[in-house]
Formats: sequence, structure tokens, C-alpha cells
Amino acid sequence: MKAIILVGGEGLRLRPLTCNLPKPMVPIVNRPFLEHMVEHLKRHHIDEIILAICYLPDRIQQHFGDGSSFGVKLSYAVEQTPLGTGGAVKNAEQFLKDTFLVFNGDIFSDLDLTEMVRFHLAHKAKATIALTPVKDPTSYGVVELNSQNRVKGFIEKPSPERVTSNLINAGIYVLEPEMLELIPAGVRSMLERGLFPDLVKRGIPFYGYQSHAYWLDTGKPDDYFKLNHDLLMGKVVSRLPGKAVTDGIWAEAGCKIHPSVKLTGPIVMGRGCIIKQNAKISGPTVLGNRSIIGQGCILDEAILWQNVKLGKDVSVKNSVIGNDTTVKDNTWVTDGSIIGDDVTIGSGNKLEHGIKVWARKTIEDNAISF
Ligand code: GDD
Ligand code: MG
Repeated sequence: MKAIILVGGEGLRLRPLTCNLPKPMVPIVNRPFLEHMVEHLKRHHIDEIILAICYLPDRIQQHFGDGSSFGVKLSYAVEQTPLGTGGAVKNAEQFLKDTFLVFNGDIFSDLDLTEMVRFHLAHKAKATIALTPVKDPTSYGVVELNSQNRVKGFIEKPSPERVTSNLINAGIYVLEPEMLELIPAGVRSMLERGLFPDLVKRGIPFYGYQSHAYWLDTGKPDDYFKLNHDLLMGKVVSRLPGKAVTDGIWAEAGCKIHPSVKLTGPIVMGRGCIIKQNAKISGPTVLGNRSIIGQGCILDEAILWQNVKLGKDVSVKNSVIGNDTTVKDNTWVTDGSIIGDDVTIGSGNKLEHGIKVWARKTIEDNAISF
């Protein structure tokens, strides 16, 4: 069976993490977001995947190629200008001749896809949409079902007074290929504002598949922290990279950890990390490949991307630090701060309150003081 993943968005809300990187390539526990998705599909024997791509397609294509190193067959449907969720699926029509799956490319879920497809076929549905309950449905597609799980209402991002259910569109669909005939070609359209309300209106068999599987929309920085944490805490089915060296500590090859270092898991370390004496690291924490953690550093709920260098007595708490960034001695990065790629932060600074530092910036010594 084939699946199409919609990866056209820019991920603006995750900036500066997405300044140099399309959102699907943002690392989640040291592997691009999209790699986790591909693995989830493979677990359900879905190994032909189409990526509907628009923003920075080269980065994604360079990493995934034809998919063979990931055990799948990948094709690309590239849009010159964003065609919306409907237009993007229509643009891949040539690949979609049988029942197929569609995924929003920014949701993380361990939903049982095999069961969902079985449900779709058993109901002889033309379209089936996965549903998940949320507290505030107003920023999602809200779905109303009848007692047979047939969709009787679909409203995208309703105002609070129009909310009729707490079940929302989880961004995973099973569609029959004839649904493509209902999507206009070559123009921007949204499944959520076009096809889905249309199916309800026309009385075409359209079903909702409810589940309590893990589900997270990863649009905002808080969700980015949550997703890394949940993976490390084992709240979602996934595979952590590296080998389990002791309880709750996973490390890839070539890590050097001074014997005085105190580690409290869960911690994942990429290849070739160096952790110097008296450093203290508490999980959930991720160290990207070639991280260097200086003497006496304290890390707690930290997410470091690749090649991050921390000087002596640096403290990183509840924050993300991008690729190739250096933080010099006695600096604190705390409280949901997000530091972009290639940044240099001088010594004696205190970054907190969710501060965001854009890529390639330099902060002088003692510029943001205690
Ligand atoms: N190829 C392509 N082209 N992909 C696109 C385009 C486009 O023009 N526009 C959006 N996408 C991709 C995004 O990258 C994302 O992966 C997915 O389609 C959904 O778009 P978002 O912009 O993230 O939509 P949303 O989060 O506001 O709402 C959607 O997701 C909710 C669940 O997270 C809707 O599907 C809601 O109904 C749903 O509840
Ligand atoms: Mg989204």
C-alpha cells in the first residue's frame, strides 16, 4: 500500500530551528522527524511513500534519496508553489491508483494503521479520517460522527461557539483513488475546507476512525520539547538510536565520558560525544553527534543538536541549542530558550524566559548579565 506525506509547510512557528532546515528534517531524538514517520509506516508494511514537497525540497531529497537506505521506495511530488493539502495530493495523482494513506507531515503518532485500513475496508468507505480527542479543538478540524462512526460534520478551525465535538482530525486519512476526481487540478485547495465538507454534503461514505493512540501536532516550540521528552520517556512506540549502555542511557559509537560524570537517564547521545569531568546530565536529555560538554556543566532537559560545544560550568536547562553552536564558560541557557545554528554565546551570559537567538549571531561576553 502507498502513503503520501504532506511536507510542504515552512514551520514558521518553530523558527529559529527551521531557518536552515525544513520542518520534517528537524531532529527528534537525533533523527529527522520524517525518519520516525517512515519507520512507523514500515512497521505497518507501507513501504511505498510519496513525499509532497514544496519548501526546501533539496534538503529532504539529499537525505532520503530513493528511500533504499531506509528500506522504502520513495517518490517525490514537488510543487512549484504551495497547492494546499488538497492540491498537493492531486499533484501526486499519477502515483495513486489504489486505496492509499495520506499524512500531514507534522504530526507524530503511533496509530495502528493496519487496523485503520481494515476499518476503512470493512465499512466500504470512500474516505476514512483518524480522529483524536483534544481539550481545545478550535485550532483543528472538528469532526462530528453519527452512531455508526460516519462523519456528519467537518468544520476546519471553528469559532468556539461552533464546536460540537472534542474529536478532531488527526491528519491521517485513508482514501480511495476516485476521491482524487473531486479535487480540482493545478489550483490551491485544502482537503479540510474542500473535499471533506463536500463528502458530507454529497453523502459519500466518509468515516471517522477513533483512537487513543499517541498523537501530537508538532507546530509549536512547546510541542518540540514535549515530543523529544515523550520519546525518551517511552510514551510512544519508537526506536531510540544508539545502544543502551546502562539503564536509561543510550549512546552511539565513539563517546568519551569522564568517570566523574553523573548521568541520570533518560539520555541519548549521538556519535563521538565528549563529556568532561564533573559534568552532571539529567534526562530527558539529547546530545547530538559530536557534542562537547565542558568540565562542570549542568544539563537538565536539554536538547543539543550536532556539534554543540559547551565551555566550563555552562548550564543548559529545558532549552534547545542548534547545530555548530558554541556556548562559552559560565553561561546559562535556561527556561525554554531556543538557540539557532552557528551561534556563539560568550561567557558570563544568562539566557532565559524562552529567549530565541537567530542563526549565526554572536553574543559578546557578559552581554546579558546576571
Ligand atoms: N505539499 C504541501 N503543500 N504540503 C502542505 C501544504 C502545501 O501547500 N500546505 C500544508 N501542507 C502540509 C503541512 O506541511 C503539514 O504537514 C500539513 O500539510 C497540514 O498543514 P498545517 O498547516 O500544519 O495545518 P494545521 O496544523 O493548521 O491543520 C491541519 O492539521 C490538523 C492536525 O494537526 C488540518 O488538517 C486540521 O484539520 C487538523 O486537525
Ligand atoms: Mg499542523
